[in-house]
Amino acid sequence: MKWFVLGIIVTLIVLSAAAYIYLAQGFVSARADVKPGMMDSWLGSAMDASTSRHAPKLTNPAPDTQETLLAGAKIYASSCGICHGTPADHDSKLGKSFYPPVPQFFGDDPPDMKENENFYIIKHGVRMTAMPAWGDLLSDQQIWQTVALLKHIDQKSLPAGVQQELNASQARQ
Ligand code: HEC
Repeated sequence: MKWFVLGIIVTLIVLSAAAYIYLAQGFVSARADVKPGMMDSWLGSAMDASTSRHAPKLTNPAPDTQETLLAGAKIYASSCGICHGTPADHDSKLGKSFYPPVPQFFGDDPPDMKENENFYIIKHGVRMTAMPAWGDLLSDQQIWQTVALLKHIDQKSLPAGVQQELNASQARQ
């Protein structure tokens, strides 16, 4: 039994040393222009699990009206579309140049998390990715307005004024 425990301890020390050398000697690629590997996909799932555990179970206080969508679209157009894409540019080149690539909300990766989780992600950002924490830049009310907009993004029938506002970021670039 004593040798068995000792064997486990030695194995753990050797594995930790190997991992340390692998990282400290720069074997891990730092490039942003490669496809995320298995380890990164696993980390992505861990982030989703963390969000679902930590996001308070709040409901969206913004009324489900066209005014709310319009306010959300204005914020989205000026702060989010450049990375997450717009109806007119659903494949943002800038967004796809980050590592991990930014989900394209009007393209291949529409927002699919719950409203309280989207609120939490927008307010607090996502560590080690390009997603900023907007908590010091937008009020809670503004964040809920963008959350309301994201809820309707997959409905192709967004009111014309809202679509127009979303595409306005393209015109401003
Ligand atoms: C500089 C680029 C960038 C900007 C600007 C940006 N984001 Fe993000 N966002 C990201 C990245 C990268 C991720 C993916 C993080 C990950 O891999 O977990 C993300 C993830 C998200 C998610 C989670 C999506 C999901 O379903 O997993 C939401 C919601 C979101 N962003 C909303 C916004 C909103 C709203 C704004 C504007 C207020 C915004 N983002 C601005 C880069 C950006």
